[in-house]
Amino acid sequence: MIKAESSLEYLQKLFILPDTTDKFMEFGLAVLEMIYDFFKEKKGLHKKITLPELAQIFNQTSIPEGPYLIRDVLEEIREKVTVHSVMVASPYYIGHMTSAIPYYMILLEIIIAALNQNQVKIETAKASSFVERELVAWIHRIIFERDEQFYRKNIQNHRVALGNVTSDGTMSNLTALLVAREKALPPDKSFPGVRKAGVDKALSYYGYSRMVVLISQRGHYSIRKAAHLLGLGEENVISIPVDMSNRIDISALKRKIKNIKRDDLRKGKKTKVMALIGIAGTTETGNIDSLTELGDIARQEGAYFHVDAAWGGAALIVDEYRSLFRGIERADSVSVDVHKLLYCPMAMGIVVFRNEKDLGHLKQFSQYINRRDSVDTGRFTIEGSRPFACLKPWASLKILGRDGYRLLFKQANEATLTFKRVLEESENFEVLNHPELFILNYRLVPPFVLEKFHAWEEKIKARSNRNEITELTRKTRKTNRILNALNVQLQKSIRQEDTTFVSRTTLESTRYRPQRIAVLRAVLINPLINEDILKRIVSTQNRIGLRLMDHFEPHLREAIA
Ligand SMILES: Cc1ncc(COP(=O)(O)O)c(C=O)c1O
Repeated sequence: MIKAESSLEYLQKLFILPDTTDKFMEFGLAVLEMIYDFFKEKKGLHKKITLPELAQIFNQTSIPEGPYLIRDVLEEIREKVTVHSVMVASPYYIGHMTSAIPYYMILLEIIIAALNQNQVKIETAKASSFVERELVAWIHRIIFERDEQFYRKNIQNHRVALGNVTSDGTMSNLTALLVAREKALPPDKSFPGVRKAGVDKALSYYGYSRMVVLISQRGHYSIRKAAHLLGLGEENVISIPVDMSNRIDISALKRKIKNIKRDDLRKGKKTKVMALIGIAGTTETGNIDSLTELGDIARQEGAYFHVDAAWGGAALIVDEYRSLFRGIERADSVSVDVHKLLYCPMAMGIVVFRNEKDLGHLKQFSQYINRRDSVDTGRFTIEGSRPFACLKPWASLKILGRDGYRLLFKQANEATLTFKRVLEESENFEVLNHPELFILNYRLVPPFVLEKFHAWEEKIKARSNRNEITELTRKTRKTNRILNALNVQLQKSIRQEDTTFVSRTTLESTRYRPQRIAVLRAVLINPLINEDILKRIVSTQNRIGLRLMDHFEPHLREAIA
C-alpha cells in the first residue's frame, strides 16, 4: 500500500471536510459503489472462505505503520472484509433475526457518524437528546398506552425517564433487572439500600437467603448474564417448563413458587422472588407468554414483572398484533430491540418503564457531567457514551410509518405460513412449532419414519399394554436420536453448500417432549422472500437431506423395525 503524507497538515485535513466537496464525494461514491457491489453479489451467502483462511488474512501482530491513503484502505476493506461478510440481506438467508435493512438506513448511519453526538450529556447531544426522548415516548405508548396527558407531561421532562436507549437487548434486560434489584432491596431507615451496601448486606438486612428470577425455559441467555452481573448468581435464574406452544407453563410456575415457599419453611430460609419475566417472542420459537396471568402472579408475589420483548415488541406498532401481547401493559418494564422487527441496522435496544420514576433508582451524578440539576440522559443509563442510534428508528417510523410496518409484518406472516405449507407439502419435513411471530421450527423426517411415529402415537394414546408402551417409547427415543444427528448434519451441510441458510437449536417442547429434538430454525422477516424462493430453499434442503439419507436410512430402518 502506498504511504500517505505523514504531516500534521495532512492529518488535520482528514478531520475537516476538504476545501471542495470533490474528495469527500469521490470517497463517498467509492464507498457507496462498494456497498452496491456487495449487495449485487448473488453467489452464495458469503464468499467461500474457511475460518482458518480468514485467520491467515488477519494475522498481522502489530499495528501497521501508516498513514496509508484512504483510497487504499477502502480497497483493502473491499477485498478482505466486505467480500467475506455474510449476506444477511439475502432472502435465502433465513436463519437468524439479522435480516435485510432498507437502504436509507445506510444514509442515516452516515448522518449519525457525521454529527457524532454523544447521548450521554446535553453538552454533546442537543437536538438528539430530544429526539431520543420522543422516540422512547412513542415506544412507551404502544406498550403501556397511558393517556395523552401522561405523555404531554413526561415526554421531555428531564426529571424522569420513560425508558433508556441501550446498545442492545442484553443491555435492556440488564437495565430492567438492575431496577428490579434496587426495588427489591431498597433503602430503609438507616439501611442505605443494595446500591450502597451491596448484595450480601442487603439480603441479610431483609432476611433473605437468596433472590431468584423466574423465566421460562425459552428465556434468552442475557437473563443469566444479568443475574451474574447483578450478583444474584446464574443458578438463581430458575427455568420454568413451557407448554407445547412454547409458552411458560403457568401451573408449573405456580407449583415452583409453592415449592420454593415450602422448602424455605422447612429450611428456615427466605427466598425473594425478585422478578418474574415474561417473553414476548421467544428467541427460538417466536411465541409469546400469557402475560396477563404472569402479571397477576407477579403482583401476588410482590415480584417485579419484566417482559423481554426484544424480538416481538415492535409488532405492537401495528394494532392487529395487540391481542397477542395482551397483558404487556401490566409489566414494570419491557425491552424492545430496534435491530429486529424495526428493520434497523445493528444494534440498538430500548427499555421502557411503566412508572416514569423507576429509572430514578439508577441515577448517577458526577462533577463534570450529569450534575444534580442537569438534563443529561446519561444520568439514567448504565452505559456511558452512546451514539445517536435512535435517529434510525425515529426516522424509519416516519419513512415507513405504521402502515409500512403493517405491510412488512403481513408479508413476514405470509412468508412464515407459506414456508410451513411448502415444508408440509414436501413430505420429508415435519413442522414442530405453532408460529406466532415469524419463526418456524422444523426438521427433516423421512415419511416412512413419520408414519411409524403416528402409528406408535395412536397405540400409546389407546393405552395398549404397558410393556408395549415402554417399548414404543424406547423406539421413539432411539429413532429421534438418529434424527437429531441427521438434522444437525443437515444444518451443517446447508451451511457448507452456502446457497441457503437456516439456524438450528434443540427443543424439549415438541410433540416428542420431554425428549430434546434438534430442529432447524427459520426467521422469515426479509421482505424480499417469496414463494418461489421458499420452494427453492426447501428443495435445496431436501436434496442435501436425501444425500445424507444414504448414511442415515439403514440406522433409521433398524430403529423403527
Ligand atoms: C428474546 C430476546 N431477548 C434478548 C435478546 C438479546 O438481544 P441482543 O442480541 O440485542 O443483545 C434476544 C436476541 O436475540 C432475544 O431474542
